[in-house]
Amino acid sequence: MTQEELFKKLIAHSKEYGFIFPSSEIYDGLSAVYDYGQLGVELKNNIKKYWWDAMVRLNDNIVGIDSAIFMHPRIWEASGHVGAFNDPLIDNKDSKKRYRADVLIEEWLAKQDEKIEKEIAKARKRFGEKFDRQQFVETSPRIKEISERRHAVNDRMVKALTENNLDEVKKIIEDCEIVCPISGTKNWTEVRQFNLMFETKIGSVSEGANTIYLRPETAQGIFVNFLNVQKSGRMKIPFGIAQIGKAFRNEIVARQFIFRMREFEQMEMQFFVRPGDELKWFEYWKAFRMSWHRALGFGDDMYRFHDHEKLAHYANAATDVEFRFPFGFKEVEGIHSRTDFDLGNHQKFSGRKIQYFDTETGESYVPYVVETSIGVDRMVLQVLSAAFKEEELTKEDGSKDERVVLSFPAALAPVKVAVLPLVKKDGLPEIGREILNELKLDYACQYDEKDSIGKRYRRQDAIGTPLCVTVDHQTAEDRTVTVRYRDTMAQERVAISELPALIEREVSMKQLFKKITR
Ligand code: GAP
Repeated sequence: MTQEELFKKLIAHSKEYGFIFPSSEIYDGLSAVYDYGQLGVELKNNIKKYWWDAMVRLNDNIVGIDSAIFMHPRIWEASGHVGAFNDPLIDNKDSKKRYRADVLIEEWLAKQDEKIEKEIAKARKRFGEKFDRQQFVETSPRIKEISERRHAVNDRMVKALTENNLDEVKKIIEDCEIVCPISGTKNWTEVRQFNLMFETKIGSVSEGANTIYLRPETAQGIFVNFLNVQKSGRMKIPFGIAQIGKAFRNEIVARQFIFRMREFEQMEMQFFVRPGDELKWFEYWKAFRMSWHRALGFGDDMYRFHDHEKLAHYANAATDVEFRFPFGFKEVEGIHSRTDFDLGNHQKFSGRKIQYFDTETGESYVPYVVETSIGVDRMVLQVLSAAFKEEELTKEDGSKDERVVLSFPAALAPVKVAVLPLVKKDGLPEIGREILNELKLDYACQYDEKDSIGKRYRRQDAIGTPLCVTVDHQTAEDRTVTVRYRDTMAQERVAISELPALIEREVSMKQLFKKITR
């Protein structure tokens, strides 16, 4: 199965089992907007809890807030979003389709990489065991030619985007002979900038309504509350403010399911430090955040850092944490050293003094900021795509079977325990309900008595439930049950009285927190 097929199956599975639905489906949907179903919302809440507790509870110098989505419009002037939160767009005159010009070029660059890989694969076949990849890459004239052209185009693109030279962006598209994937033609419009913020009106028209924006990031709600939190919480630098909330961007190229949405959620933390200390803290948060990801156990090789070579004018260091999705390594989180840009600009635009008096140095200054910013929905996609597996099984009698399983880290699983009476009679449902009523005080549980036990196990595998508790006739005699583990499918007999401790050991978030290096 190709990665593309796997991804399609994952999207279908997410819908079939109540994780994620396309928005407004009965009205033919709304592009790049999704709804979370009954299991999706549980998974998402667990991810948010994992982030919140790791950031706010485990770090005694970080506190959380929940600021409003609507904010004063001047905030977005100060942050630079009104002037510069743009994507360069281009339309194809024949198909009437609109594209992000930089994405068209990036796709062209990716195709050159594919061409190089194809050359390497051909040579590997030709030379067999003697094949030396590095030597071939360094000496093949064809690879040299593709690679030189690729790098030249990449450099031109970076320069053109940095200088906001939209004519040059169009020229690159023409020089690379990029065609519209729909019409197949090169009949392009000029490239122009398009602001990604959604506008709306506040106040009734008779009062004179004002244009405001749906926030494109949660971070500004933290910056404008810096003094409130610092003073009311008597916080001493270095300290952080964390927030989880919705953000909105009018994305033009919206693809890859919940990877790029128009309405999404962010988990952001701004860490305020003494000027000059920011790069030390940048390294600290890089290590902390990577270890938060790795603690989930999907494999260290599933992650990498992508350090930004070209920095925004206000940043002095930036990196992305990338995860290997079925469609390749892509950003899930950004870690940025943003200097005093945001607080400094809010000081300028609001006319209010935003300074911190450092009792250790006796100085007042605008603090520097290191931010960690991660998309909740991208985390959901990360967890779903790493967990989704189709497995072939050999039954005890030697016959073949298959199952679809979501191997979630147990602490993130939407349902922790399923209670399954073997049959619907002989008092087994009553014992099952008794166990359920006790366990649901602490854990998300399901109770299921329909169909054969095998079918019920498969249903729980498909939604990623780590533990099934089966009540059978022996339970009525000796108060023991069978616990079945999702990943190994191993079963063991335990006393009902032992269940709480066993479940806690298996599904507690504590196991994840202990793996995070601090
Ligand atoms: N305050 C910094 C900031 O917003 P960003 O790199 O634009 O930085 C941070 O966004 C994270 O938010 C990204 O790494 C990604 O996980 C998530 N994100 C951004 N745009 C998104 C979108 N359209 N859909 C889903 N997630 C998105």
